[in-house]
Amino acid sequence: MRLTVTAKEGGSTKADALVLFVSAKDLKKEAGKLLKNLGADEGALHDFKASAGEVALAYRPASGKSASRIFLAGIGDGDKADDYRKAAEAAARKAVELKLDVLALDCSAAGQWAKQSKRKPEELAAILAEAVQYGAYRFDRLKSGKLDKKKEEESRSKKIGELVFAGCGEQREAIEKGANAGMIVGSCQSATRDLVNLPGNHLSAEDLARAAVEAGERGGFEVTVFDKQKITELKMGGLLAVNKGSEQPPTFTIMDYKPAGKAKKTIALVGKGVTFDSGGISLKPAQGMEEMKSDMAGAACVIGAVEAAARLGLPVRVIGLVPSTDNMPSGSAQKPGDVITTMSGITVEVGNTDAEGRLILADALTYASQEYNPDVIIDLATLTGACIVALGYQVAGLFSNDDDLAERLYESGQASGERVWRLPLWDEYAELIKSDVADVHNSGGRGAGTISAAKFLEKFIDGHKRWAHVDIAGPAFPAKGGAKVSGATGFGVRLLVDLLKSWS
Ligand code: BES
Ligand code: MN
Ligand code: ZN
Repeated sequence: MRLTVTAKEGGSTKADALVLFVSAKDLKKEAGKLLKNLGADEGALHDFKASAGEVALAYRPASGKSASRIFLAGIGDGDKADDYRKAAEAAARKAVELKLDVLALDCSAAGQWAKQSKRKPEELAAILAEAVQYGAYRFDRLKSGKLDKKKEEESRSKKIGELVFAGCGEQREAIEKGANAGMIVGSCQSATRDLVNLPGNHLSAEDLARAAVEAGERGGFEVTVFDKQKITELKMGGLLAVNKGSEQPPTFTIMDYKPAGKAKKTIALVGKGVTFDSGGISLKPAQGMEEMKSDMAGAACVIGAVEAAARLGLPVRVIGLVPSTDNMPSGSAQKPGDVITTMSGITVEVGNTDAEGRLILADALTYASQEYNPDVIIDLATLTGACIVALGYQVAGLFSNDDDLAERLYESGQASGERVWRLPLWDEYAELIKSDVADVHNSGGRGAGTISAAKFLEKFIDGHKRWAHVDIAGPAFPAKGGAKVSGATGFGVRLLVDLLKSWS
């Protein structure tokens, strides 16, 4: 998607549609006048309430090159960033539905929006650019068009080729800066969504590693991929145990973005990269098992966030760590009751082979703290179904041993629209993962499954004082009907980018 930012007013900008953002308050006073001035049909206002995310269409006679379609995009009260996010996302979705190529946003009121939503014009522009890409996203790369070639080709080639910020006036510079940043974050989030949507037969651990290498090429940062031999040398017993049932080798990928000047902080991001989770010998039920192609969403999010940080040139060092394998049953697979030794030396009784995410994360957390001693460690994982029971598909579970880090993540969630809610790490919960035969047990039984998983991870941070764990099982890949978007959301990319900026 190309970006153009212009001071030229929206009404005369060359586009297939012009988006007018309308608040509920201004609906009566302004919207009719605006449409009239543009020479468009006011009938569009009949049933329009301007609630956030509502879109109505108005038309005007095609005049030369300016847009003949006017999208009225509701922003509700227009006092929250989310109002603008919803409006831009819905307008983009509409534009894709209509197969439009050039979408223009009328930004003549940007100064006023900024004031109302207590954001800088630059931040609002970033939000709009991100949201347009989010709404325009389609996962169609696995459609061949063999059934209906013409129709398919048509719909594939139209995903908004150009986004125009028009009528920027005095805010042009600020809007351009913000929109450019938003385009970066949006494209990284789309790349994350693609990875999560790719099924197991199209994305192995080696493929995921390759995706990180490609992100490194785009972002200009170093990427190192450990193969099975190196993983074995490092004694990553958790990752190797989960991989035992697989026909494909594991990978451990390290992304290392170093800013140009002195880094203000070093942050390690760890992402669960299970490319398909069958449960292993503790096999999952068939119903819904296909959704487990998304079990590498934490990894995909880390890849997207490191790329975004690099392309934005944030002044922090970001190290992305991705342990990856699928989790399969076979004659060589690990068995319930097995006792394994992780890289840390801590032994684990594998009571349930379906609690595999924590086994591969254990080694990655050990590696992160031993190898880099970062200021902050954050892991993201589609770790527990219990987290969906607790918080649903909209919100991620958050754990941290540091109140300031928890607070920052909470605030970044509010700002980015990718919200997190904190759960406790009280020591009573460690009782749940005691083992008779090993140092720790990998499954904590029925109650508080999300918390016992976090308590398990906590054992592997080696006393690190600023660690957070984000369980994204719900929002990474909402089940049909669970949220507005079905399939991958790229949840966490915006959250992490906002957080990383807080140290800038
Ligand atoms: N990948 C799953 C968690 C999951 C479930 C994510 C549904 C998204 C949607 C994880 O590996 C898993 O299977 N967890 C088990 C843990 C249990 C065996 C202790 C679970 O949640 O049931
Ligand atoms: Mn599992
Ligand atoms: Zn899993």
